[in-house]
Amino acid sequence: MSATIRFLPAEIDCPCEPGESVFDVGRRNGIAIETACVGQASCGLCRVRVIEGEEHLSALNSHEERHLGNVYYLTKERLSCQAIIAEGRVTVELAPKRRRRRK
Ligand code: FES
Repeated sequence: MSATIRFLPAEIDCPCEPGESVFDVGRRNGIAIETACVGQASCGLCRVRVIEGEEHLSALNSHEERHLGNVYYLTKERLSCQAIIAEGRVTVELAPKRRRRRK
C-alpha cells in the first residue's frame, strides 16, 4: 500500500505511510501548517480543506467536531492532526492565515 498527500497551494506531493496524520506528513516535509498545540487536537489551528480523496482519510472525530462544528459536508475542513490517511492519494489545501484582530 502506498499513500501520497498533495499540499496546495504549493502543489507539493508528499509520499507517506498509511496511518500517518496529514499534520505529521506536512510538518516532516516543511509545509507550514499553523499550530499552537503541535498535534494534540487542542488549538484548532491546523485546519486544511480536503480537495480530493476524502475517502482515504479517517472519519471526523469528536475533537474536530468541537473545533469545526458539524458542517464538514459544507466546508470540507479537517484538523490536519486528526485526519489520518489510510492509503491512496489525498489533496488538501492549507487554510489561509487568519487575520489578526486589532485590540
Ligand atoms: S495541531 Fe492543534 S489542533 Fe491540530
